[in-house]
Amino acid sequence: MAKSSKGNADQTQAKVAAGSECATHGHDHDHSHGAAAKNGEPLSPAALAELENDLNNREIAIIEREIKSLRLQEELDRLRPLSGLYRVVKAMATERRLDSLLDTITRETQSIVKCDRCSVFVLDHDKSELWTQVAQGLTGVRTIRIPLSGAAIVSHCARAGRIINIPDAYKDDRFDPAVDKKTGYKTRSVLCVPMRNREGGIIGVFQVLNKLSGPFTSEDEEWLEALTAVASGLIEQAQAYDEIERFVDKTLEVLAQTIDKSDPLTAGHSVRVTNYSMMIGSSMDVLGEDLDILRYSAMMHDYGKIGVPEAVLWKPGRLTPEEYATVQKHASITFDLLSNLPFTKRLQAVPFVASCHHEKLDGTGYYRGLKGEQIPFLSRIIAVADVFDALTSVRHYRNRMPIEKVAEILDAGKDNHFDAACVTAFEKLPAETVLTCMESERDRNASADIGMFNQITWRRLVELTAGSKPKRGEENLKESFERLYNFGLPADYKSLD
Ligand SMILES: [Fe+2]
Repeated sequence: MAKSSKGNADQTQAKVAAGSECATHGHDHDHSHGAAAKNGEPLSPAALAELENDLNNREIAIIEREIKSLRLQEELDRLRPLSGLYRVVKAMATERRLDSLLDTITRETQSIVKCDRCSVFVLDHDKSELWTQVAQGLTGVRTIRIPLSGAAIVSHCARAGRIINIPDAYKDDRFDPAVDKKTGYKTRSVLCVPMRNREGGIIGVFQVLNKLSGPFTSEDEEWLEALTAVASGLIEQAQAYDEIERFVDKTLEVLAQTIDKSDPLTAGHSVRVTNYSMMIGSSMDVLGEDLDILRYSAMMHDYGKIGVPEAVLWKPGRLTPEEYATVQKHASITFDLLSNLPFTKRLQAVPFVASCHHEKLDGTGYYRGLKGEQIPFLSRIIAVADVFDALTSVRHYRNRMPIEKVAEILDAGKDNHFDAACVTAFEKLPAETVLTCMESERDRNASADIGMFNQITWRRLVELTAGSKPKRGEENLKESFERLYNFGLPADYKSLD
């Protein structure tokens, strides 16, 4: 490129030197209007020629610059799809989760083929359906499922295993306007490319809708095929990863439940502690792998109870100091057992985080007696969730504790037992979310009653229960909550506490 523009400049300069024509306008004309006399004196012919030459050179420089920027723009336009492809490939290295991967792929595809919408449909072999998680622009709709045997163009594409390029959807028999009717979208042009796995089997369909200018071209088809080739591999890999993760998740959940379920009174404890922990963590901006560590640690925090005799664990009434010491051993057993599990590198903190759930900020906790910052932040979250669930559940030695009292215990524990920020984050959670988790293992479905708490925080619910004057819209919440919380329980808490 540099060579050709230099050649251009050489030619023009030669013409200027020969004085044959104007480089800008390509014809002979009088340039003397630019050569105004200095101090009224006319310029010598030599000075005039020099000035003209100088002006021409400047014009040439401007033209050269313009040509250069035009070429750069062309080059950029040509490279844009490549950079999109590069970003998709890069996502492979950083993104293993299927949902975020699909997000990246669709976003980049939209900008590469300049279309209004892009969806990646994944084939669910078991259900013979194509589903898409990401339908950009359709606010509120995150999953669409389409039968493989249906009339939709993506279904045609998956069945035939061939590219389908439709310039005008409403003039094509294969297009079913029913989806447009449902979503209020107006489909114009459609391009579908099948995705294949390494063995050549169909694993999904890439669909782009409404090219911004005109129908989709053969160049778009080529780009989409290239993207599809990259995406197919990534999606397959992410699906495999998701499967493994689901397996690990479920396995740990089942393991945790073997402890919870051995005693009907602690059933659901691990799952609820996990849910409370995830709520607190998310509200405190715990993200990515930290959130995974939090989930697994919370799920497995009491696993060590498998090593504590049931006679002690299930003992009605208060424990002797010796028995209490035996129960406390569960934290170190949790650490020992979890340390034997081959957690991947990113989850290696799980045994330690899980085993620190009884540590207290002031160092009086067990089993290592850690203080303040020595206790992992994620363990401090689990500590709040664990105590909250223990107090709001029925135990062998007492009933569910009145929630004003629970709130008092959490509040009094700020900065000595608990990390105050974690307690505050818990108090700010929506009451509806806390109650949904709290009531999840109860015999009846209370979701209709819980819905009425969707406007207030947990803290506000505690205030109302403690006698705070209800504001507008809060009138019956205290009574409704008490009915919900005490359902099926003996009326007198105190005698049981
Ligand atoms: Fe525990």
